[in-house]
Amino acid sequence: MRISISLLQLFLGLLLAINGILLHCQAWPARYTFVVEETPYKRLCSTKKILTVNGQFPGPTLYARKGDTIIVDVINKGNRNITLHWHGVAQPRNPWSDGPEYITQCPIQPGANFTQKIIFSTEEGTLWWHAHSEWDRATVHGAMIIYPNKDTHYPFPKPHAEIPIILGEWWKEDIGELYTQTLKNGGDPNNSSAFLVNGQPGDLYPCSKPETFKLLVDYGKTYLLRLINAAEQEILFFSIANHKVTVVGSDASYTKPFTTDYVTIPPGQTLDLLLTANQSPSKYYYMAARAYLGGVGIAYDNTTTTAILQYKNHVPSSTPPLLPALPAYNDTNASVHFTGSLRSLADKNHPVDVPLKITTHLFYTLSVNTFPCPKNSCAGPNGSRLAASVNNISFMTPTIDILQAYYYHVNGVFGTRFPNFPPLLFNFTAQDLPLYLQTPKRSTEVKVLEYNATVELVFQGTNVVSGDDHPMHLHGFSFYVVGWGLGNFDKDKDPLTYNLVDPPLKNTITVPVNGWTAIRFKADNPGVWFMHCHLDRHMSWGMDVTFIVKNGKETQAQILPPPPDMPPC
Ligand code: C2O
Ligand code: CU
Repeated sequence: MRISISLLQLFLGLLLAINGILLHCQAWPARYTFVVEETPYKRLCSTKKILTVNGQFPGPTLYARKGDTIIVDVINKGNRNITLHWHGVAQPRNPWSDGPEYITQCPIQPGANFTQKIIFSTEEGTLWWHAHSEWDRATVHGAMIIYPNKDTHYPFPKPHAEIPIILGEWWKEDIGELYTQTLKNGGDPNNSSAFLVNGQPGDLYPCSKPETFKLLVDYGKTYLLRLINAAEQEILFFSIANHKVTVVGSDASYTKPFTTDYVTIPPGQTLDLLLTANQSPSKYYYMAARAYLGGVGIAYDNTTTTAILQYKNHVPSSTPPLLPALPAYNDTNASVHFTGSLRSLADKNHPVDVPLKITTHLFYTLSVNTFPCPKNSCAGPNGSRLAASVNNISFMTPTIDILQAYYYHVNGVFGTRFPNFPPLLFNFTAQDLPLYLQTPKRSTEVKVLEYNATVELVFQGTNVVSGDDHPMHLHGFSFYVVGWGLGNFDKDKDPLTYNLVDPPLKNTITVPVNGWTAIRFKADNPGVWFMHCHLDRHMSWGMDVTFIVKNGKETQAQILPPPPDMPPC
């Protein structure tokens, strides 16, 4: 008996030692298993089954070092089709694992598996992964943390601890149902019931108090908050009472540090924030997030999610925690002021490589639209069906994925005539635009880019139906945001104001309501890459573009061979 106990102790000791070594040299698993399954979760006083990865909500965190490749074995034990996307990972030459359904793969069916390879290259910082099928990313998402590689460090003092802060959105109804209902009736989706911090609504919602996320800090220490907006439908303001944060990174790229009382974060984006615990330790502080909405007359969830910041070893006074002052819901100035303050770090170790000679100029209008509905029986404005478009094309998802169709030369799946400019020029941001502008065209046209083309893409928000902010996300690349403004883009004047010195490098950028944003990137990643608004309603209504970047000549410039277990269509 004694022997076996000491053997057990020895074994445990060994385990701990191994663990210690692992932690010490920070070797993370290179292979993960993601089991997608239905799991009951109780929020806001009621329980529902949600789709999760490994039963966790938010899902497991993936760890890597800059330039690593990791493997994720996805096993679909759920009852629905699913795909997974590694948001912000460029995946050089490897569109096969990128994940958007019917763009780079057909979905993984219930009972099926798919092994995905995540190839990191220049990304360093915080990204996230999420489902890319219907609206399942509401509950199927998690953080990805990419550390500097072995010989390098953060370009800021090493924080005392690092904490992912994942902002989410919760509906009392089933997400699959919400998606089906919304697309069937043609109206706006129902408002969500709550926003979440790390899966919890927080103190201001019913039945939520005991589980509110708490961050315990040591006085005087600095923490790295890895903030991710995983909400489905809303851009969010986030702030911490009495504390300022310093932005040091965004979308896995370092930024010039800048200190602020609040941030604006659209779905898709990440922000790395340094927080120094330097306020009175005998108080509790709320960190809080709520919606920002630039569009007028659009329904939104006006609730506020909170988490608690608390100092260790201090008994806080009995007064309730302090709430931060968040900008007003419609405060577009606050939103663009924050977004416009982001700059690349642009130092010796993190040089900026913005294309200066542009070979491909694109100008894309982003519109909310309507289709007429028989007997005006839909739930959109005046009985119409809501839609959305880029250059007046409301993208229709095919039933065989575009990547497969392109790679194996299957005809009839997509066209290659996506226009470089809008078909009609009008005063894009005027009030009361004529009704005939509302109806877009449905089609599956893609934009083909030459390998190594240097692309400038100007997004122009329009006021068709109703102007709104559009967080545009590009797969396969990060891009430099060289300019932005309110109103119509002026092709003669506005380029003179571009920032070509330290523009931020992003994978998701909010095009301001009735405004424009100019981005640049080099098309050096062959494959099929999706681009869309990261508000899921706009994505599903057709605010999408699929790019094909042609194979280059050298092997190094060609799409990798497909994995053997691509899900069948
Ligand atoms: Cu975060 Cu196409 O997605
Ligand atoms: Cu949008």
